[in-house]
Amino acid sequence: MNDDDLNRQLQRLPMKYLHQLAKGRISRHFRLGKRRLIECMLGLPQEHKMALASSLANLSLPSRESVVSPATPQSPSPGKSPSPFYSKATARKSHHTQGPSSPPIQLPELLEGIGVPSPMPFVPDEWQREAVEALAHADVIVSVPTGSGKTFVAIEAIKQAMAANQTVIYTSPLKALSNTKYMEFSQRFGPDQVGILTGDRRDNIHAPLLIMTTEILRNVLYDAASGEIDLRLHTLGLVILDESQYLADPERGVVWEETLILCPSQTRLLLLSASIGNPQELAEWLTSIREIPCRLIRHTKRSVPLRGLYLHPTGQLVPLFEARDIQQKKGYRFHPETKRLFNEYEIKPFR
Ligand SMILES: Nc1ncnc2c1ncn2[C@@H]1O[C@H](COP(=O)(O)OP(=O)(O)OP(=O)(O)O)[C@@H](O)[C@H]1O
Ligand SMILES: [Mg+2]
Repeated sequence: MNDDDLNRQLQRLPMKYLHQLAKGRISRHFRLGKRRLIECMLGLPQEHKMALASSLANLSLPSRESVVSPATPQSPSPGKSPSPFYSKATARKSHHTQGPSSPPIQLPELLEGIGVPSPMPFVPDEWQREAVEALAHADVIVSVPTGSGKTFVAIEAIKQAMAANQTVIYTSPLKALSNTKYMEFSQRFGPDQVGILTGDRRDNIHAPLLIMTTEILRNVLYDAASGEIDLRLHTLGLVILDESQYLADPERGVVWEETLILCPSQTRLLLLSASIGNPQELAEWLTSIREIPCRLIRHTKRSVPLRGLYLHPTGQLVPLFEARDIQQKKGYRFHPETKRLFNEYEIKPFR
């Protein structure tokens, strides 16, 4: 068989058979798209291509009707909008395995509600108010899920400190994040009110609000302890440590620890994180080393629910789990369609 014939025949095959042929011949083949996979096959040495052609001839292809591309559009039911990811076979199988009382979620239902919400007046959440108020008499750790609105707490705390003529230092673990916050806060508070000090940048460092990486703040505090430079630490009213879960980082964690220990006693600490494992323990430790108590503001409910989806190498998108809610830690089960697709490409099936 020449390359053109081989190419034509390969082009006609659904992806699952291409992957079957590629197994053992092309590494990481299940990550490749159809065009690239066929290119790799045609690029094999001649004797491998001959073996491939004979495997191709021996492929046991099912009847024509069942060799439908998995992404073939089908209508789920009259009245419902058709989805390219929905097949009647899937629906039959799902109802069969789950029973009519708890059918696994279907893609249109899982994607429902995604879009731009209609504008609403901004109302702070109760925990946001509590966090801002607590800073009047305590250091504060905010441990809430990602996307909950920790920045609002930071901004309100900055406003309060600046209104009292105090200086504020905001740190993040990454230069890129520090740059983003520099832009964001410059727009909000005015460029003359905000400065930045990282390994790469040093702008407007006498501004009342200074953005840094945590490493730089630690160094500043060390220098201040040895009396070498003074970054107005006597007027420092607030230090915000964003992404403070870095405290647990095996290599960089010591920087956060030293920063917390070296912070002046009159300065309020605001630690923000979505993923501190033991915030209560951290609050107790801070209370034990500082002159004021540390208040923990904590909740685990996500404002924006997570949706679990599985993107198959063919481009097919299916729900990852049977149910919509993927927050439940116990008892979740993979969606039957995801299991079916995954089993086609992996030797080890889902359990
Ligand atoms: N009370 C609120 N009501 C409605 N939307 C809010 C509220 N507070 C904050 N938001 C919005 O939520 C979005 C996420 O906020 P923000 O970036 O502060 O989250 P975060 O907790 O810092 O997340 P991350 O862990 O990713 O850093 C923003 O668009 C913000 O405007
Ligand atoms: Mg944030």
